[in-house]
Amino acid sequence: MDKIVIEGGHRLGGTIDAGGAKNAALPLLFATLLTDELCRLKNVPDVADIRTTCRLLEQLGARIRRPKPGEFLVDCSSVGASEAPYELVRKMRASFLTLGPLLARFGRARVSQPGGCAIGSRPVDIHLAALARLGATIEQEHGYVDAHAQRLEGGHVILEGPSVGATENVMMAATLADGKTLIENAAREPEIVDLATALRGMGAGIRGDGSSVIEIEGVESLGAMKHTVIPDRIVAGTYLIAGAITGGAVLVRGARPDHLSSLLDVLSRMGCRVAREADSVAITMENVPRSVSVATAPYPGFPTDLQAQLMALLCVSDGLATVDETIFENRFMHVQELVRMGADIRLNGHRATVRGLRSLSGAPVMATDLRASVCLVLAGLAAEGTTEVLRVYHLDRGYERIEEKLSALGAEIRREPM
Ligand code: EPU
Repeated sequence: MDKIVIEGGHRLGGTIDAGGAKNAALPLLFATLLTDELCRLKNVPDVADIRTTCRLLEQLGARIRRPKPGEFLVDCSSVGASEAPYELVRKMRASFLTLGPLLARFGRARVSQPGGCAIGSRPVDIHLAALARLGATIEQEHGYVDAHAQRLEGGHVILEGPSVGATENVMMAATLADGKTLIENAAREPEIVDLATALRGMGAGIRGDGSSVIEIEGVESLGAMKHTVIPDRIVAGTYLIAGAITGGAVLVRGARPDHLSSLLDVLSRMGCRVAREADSVAITMENVPRSVSVATAPYPGFPTDLQAQLMALLCVSDGLATVDETIFENRFMHVQELVRMGADIRLNGHRATVRGLRSLSGAPVMATDLRASVCLVLAGLAAEGTTEVLRVYHLDRGYERIEEKLSALGAEIRREPM
């Protein structure tokens, strides 16, 4: 296994690409299961979770080609009613998104229950209740969810919480249901809008995505998909924070300022200069950042997926700030590692209180999830001395060649075998 080694204290400057959004590309790849026609996706990031998804789709019978970097051709015409096994679902919870499409197209699906996760218990009850509202019979046995329905029927679904995954699963399933489905309390994330856009291109009747009420008119079958994945707002936000934490100036090409408004608002209040263009965002940080308190919330609130990265910045800001994590019950695994780098953070339930310091000190650190790991990379960029981030496979799940990209901005960062 590799590690990432960082010599801190270098100002970052220059331009970096946001790349395609992992959390949009994953449901889009699972949506290819809805059709027997050829699907073409562009701007798919080259990250481990995408490779896991392709392995799962191939195991289900899909044929996948990559004619160019970032471009995927997926042919699910040979897929039949089938099973998503534990080995793959346990590696990546998003595999649970096979349930809606397989059930809708074949009337039957068997998908392993994902189980717990480092950042929280993450149950799938909202997904199952929603699919049951569309007429599915759901049985849970031996660690698997077995769902069947002769044909799904449109229904009125009120999600107990605006779960991103449940909205995606039920939206995909409802495209092939008989009649109209109304999803209330739907998630409003840009990744939902991207999925709805691609599904509409395949012939689905979807309206209201991006709001909390989505209406879907079921159709007999869906056609080919031809779609370009939206830029990754979390990767873009991570690189903007990398610029800010090193007192640098970074432009993220491809970043959509409208998808990043809560982060950009916080960065402005911290003293960053922010320049928004239609398809890029640039920040410049010339002074010590001022501490600003945040609470995570569903979109358009501050994303939980940027909480850890922002906390790294707060560790070297001026003043005291609180960070409230309201989405996941255990998403503070980075805190103890930041403390090992000298950070002053107190944890009390869902709240972390961070007192900013002049600097952090490099140390060997590790984390147990993707965003916590990248938070430690950011802390390492700002720290005095050498930081070694272990368990790099977490980073590789969602960041494409992060060491090459940050090196190009002037960071001293390399990947080494352990
Ligand atoms: N929840 C339930 N029951 C359910 C579903 C969700 O209680 O049936 C709870 C979860 O336990 C959590 C909250 O609802 O406390 C929100 O979960 P949600 O379903 O919205 O999350 P998700 O769909 O599993 C996606 C992203 C996550 C991101 C969250 C929140 C993908 C593949 N994953 O997960 O991304 O944190 O939405 O925005 O889209 C990441 O990229 O690092 C990541 C974890």
